[in-house]
Amino acid sequence: MAKKPRGVFIAGNWKMNFGLLETKTFFSSLSKLWITPKNSTPEVALFVPATSIAEANRARGALPVRVGAQNAHWEMKGAFTGELSAPMLAELGVSDVLVAHSERRQFFGETDESARKRTEGLLAQGFRVMLCVGETRAEREANQTEAVLQKQIKGAITPGGAAQFLDGRLTIAYEPVWAIGTGLTATPAEAESAHQFIRRLLWDSFGMEASARTPILYGGSVTPGNIETLLTCPNIDGALVGGASLKPESFWELVQKGMRVA
Ligand code: PGA
Repeated sequence: MAKKPRGVFIAGNWKMNFGLLETKTFFSSLSKLWITPKNSTPEVALFVPATSIAEANRARGALPVRVGAQNAHWEMKGAFTGELSAPMLAELGVSDVLVAHSERRQFFGETDESARKRTEGLLAQGFRVMLCVGETRAEREANQTEAVLQKQIKGAITPGGAAQFLDGRLTIAYEPVWAIGTGLTATPAEAESAHQFIRRLLWDSFGMEASARTPILYGGSVTPGNIETLLTCPNIDGALVGGASLKPESFWELVQKGMRVA
């Protein structure tokens, strides 16, 4: 029997890094390292810049790594200069989209309302969505963590909207803003407490099954050195990793450690 009921999901977020050549080099090195042990089914995705998606899909060859997009518009087409639609990404082989990463919230005006439209629109179009939530340092210090998580999750997943599609295609990434790119990781106890709160919120709002089948990943300075302890927590189903996903060696180490715990 698997030790983790939802398996382990390791996702990398390259952010605005790696053009075509670096993408090709990354996958060429990763392919040399990768060995999938028998009886192991790792769930692995890499969210790469839109311009590198096609190359990533080519360069990954047979590696069981899904290539995802870091953002997408909720409409299928139209007068939205500078945006990419989900059907355009699907043509490149994308099935996973990151929604409302804290950098989109912080720098590009993403709100709970636009996160709701994206989550709803993309799930309705058949995509897998990774919805990012998390509090700032000031919010944590003001004891607002749970209130913020509740607002972000209930704002994005509404009963007539995304809640209709909680069939396992939605993943939630809990990423405390103060832990992203700072080297400060939430302690396993802090992370587990937030994950437990999210799991309970999903249960209360959308029922036991929806809550049980939604993976909740932790993100924020995850490294090969701290991933195992985080994954021992019952409600942590994987990790969303920025910095440590940029080196094939450390990304592979994260995947390996994830497979060991799964
Ligand atoms: P980090 O980024 O691992 O570099 O902290 C995580 C993220 O932004 O998803």
